[in-house]
Amino acid sequence: MKKIAMLGLAGVMALGSTAALAAEAEDAIKYRQGVFSAVKWHFGTMGEVVKGKQDYNAEDFARRADIVAQLSKLPLEGFIAGSYEGDTDALPAIEQNWDKFEGGMNMFAEKADALAAAAKTGDMDQIRPAFGEVGKTCKGCHDNFKD
Ligand code: HEC
Repeated sequence: MKKIAMLGLAGVMALGSTAALAAEAEDAIKYRQGVFSAVKWHFGTMGEVVKGKQDYNAEDFARRADIVAQLSKLPLEGFIAGSYEGDTDALPAIEQNWDKFEGGMNMFAEKADALAAAAKTGDMDQIRPAFGEVGKTCKGCHDNFKD
């Protein structure tokens, strides 16, 4: 892995700015995928709780909801020009429909904030629908913009 990274680095130096751009795209892909992995880690556990497959612990649930709300603001900046090929499931449709994509990301952030607020009430009757609203934003975006 390290060897590959060093070869990668040598390649960048040899090829100059084109390769530097490609490396930047690669970093952006890793960045956004890393954020989404963290989203899934917490949102997945929350889903188990909402479905009654795991015990509800109000404090832990609210902590995860806060984390997801924070994470929801992070992926957008990782969708940079030139990052829609290579080791990514992000479709070029993102660039072609940027306003729609950005709108989807903002909706995700908004609904995640609402879920974090609902989680603080400790009332599952408020949490469940708020959780569902966030889930809709995941699916809505993946259907259009993720391979
Ligand atoms: C506005 C668009 C959008 C929203 C909202 C969104 N995603 Fe994604 N998601 C993407 C795109 C695009 C990718 C592909 C990223 C890549 O491969 O470069 C992705 C990738 C992922 C991945 C794979 C990460 C990896 O390691 O490759 C997971 C898991 C994921 N999303 C979970 C979620 C969950 C859970 C939610 C909601 C709580 C969510 N996403 C909301 C667009 C979105």
